[in-house]
Amino acid sequence: MTIAIEVNGLVKVYSGKVRALDGVNLKVKAGDVFALLGPNGSGKTTLMRILTTQFKPTSGEASIFGLDVIRRDAEVRKVISYVPQEMSVWTDISGYENLLIYAKIYGLPSTGRTKVIREALEGMGLDSVADNLVKTYSGGMIRRLEMACAMLIRPRILFLDEPTLGLDPTARKVVWEKLVSFKKEFDTTVFFNTHYMDEADIYSDEIAIIDRGRMVKFGTADELKHSIKKEVIQFILTNHIVAENVLKMIRSMDFVSYVIISNSELNVVVKDAETALPVVMEILRNEGVSVKKISMTRPTLDDVFLKYAGAISLQGGGIREIKQIRSMSGKGYI
Ligand SMILES: Nc1ncnc2c1ncn2[C@@H]1O[C@H](COP(=O)(O)OP(=O)(O)OP(=O)(O)O)[C@@H](O)[C@H]1O
Ligand SMILES: [Mg+2]
Repeated sequence: MTIAIEVNGLVKVYSGKVRALDGVNLKVKAGDVFALLGPNGSGKTTLMRILTTQFKPTSGEASIFGLDVIRRDAEVRKVISYVPQEMSVWTDISGYENLLIYAKIYGLPSTGRTKVIREALEGMGLDSVADNLVKTYSGGMIRRLEMACAMLIRPRILFLDEPTLGLDPTARKVVWEKLVSFKKEFDTTVFFNTHYMDEADIYSDEIAIIDRGRMVKFGTADELKHSIKKEVIQFILTNHIVAENVLKMIRSMDFVSYVIISNSELNVVVKDAETALPVVMEILRNEGVSVKKISMTRPTLDDVFLKYAGAISLQGGGIREIKQIRSMSGKGYI
């Protein structure tokens, strides 16, 4: 297994007082899509800026494919691309011209440059608007153009800071579809920050939750949901009466946290509903309790986030973010 990103004891203190990262440890496998979740100000962008060699940490270490981000920063920059939280394209020129400027900055050889740019535009579904001014693009198209720019060098790791912030659900879906197909084609590792739990749930292989500069939880979306250990199996019973000894038998199972009965509704709170369901069902059947309907409620990533990162707004709302939303959803900067 190749490790794409490794971070050990990373600390970043701004101006000697704001401790943005407080001893972060992290490992990301090559080829994975890795989501970093955290409330506003938890250190997501700071971590990404250190990993992309823009900032130096106060202490600790980080490496990209074994290359130390401080000592071998020039080599790191050759294998990564970064799409920042803020807008990173010019709105007064065309999409094609933006890509041409980036291609020159990246030092792409002039022979074959046009082909690479055309492929990037096509890959992001922007070929038909390539020659239009970027100020006429929608927020989603701007984001896809930024990704096309980042993809010009075919990075081994693509860093995306809030890739779909401020986009409507359709535009978010298109961004992710294009991203997933690029990732598949070039086997790129993707590391992204987001406030959208559904995106982390659907698109990531692994998730880390950061809170006040510390990693508080790691795992796949399923592992994180299971870690809440609180799933509910709801039985709608044919009869309102359930004998106390039946409830006692269910309560005594070690995987059952608690049982609530109200009229014909029996709610059994368990750690893992899929495993518990057949056992509880067996007890009910043996005791002659007939069941009309069964449903299961599992925790969502929102529940996981709230548990580990506290009850902080999922919507964000700092002035930076509000500006960002406006600039992405309108026609260029406000
Ligand atoms: N250049 C800077 N100088 C001083 N403090 C900073 C600087 N950049 C960030 N901070 C502070 O460091 C902390 C972490 O900020 P960071 O931008 O990394 O958080 P974030 O998780 O990306 O937040 P958001 O979700 O709002 O983008 C915050 O308290 C922030 O105010
Ligand atoms: Mg940020």
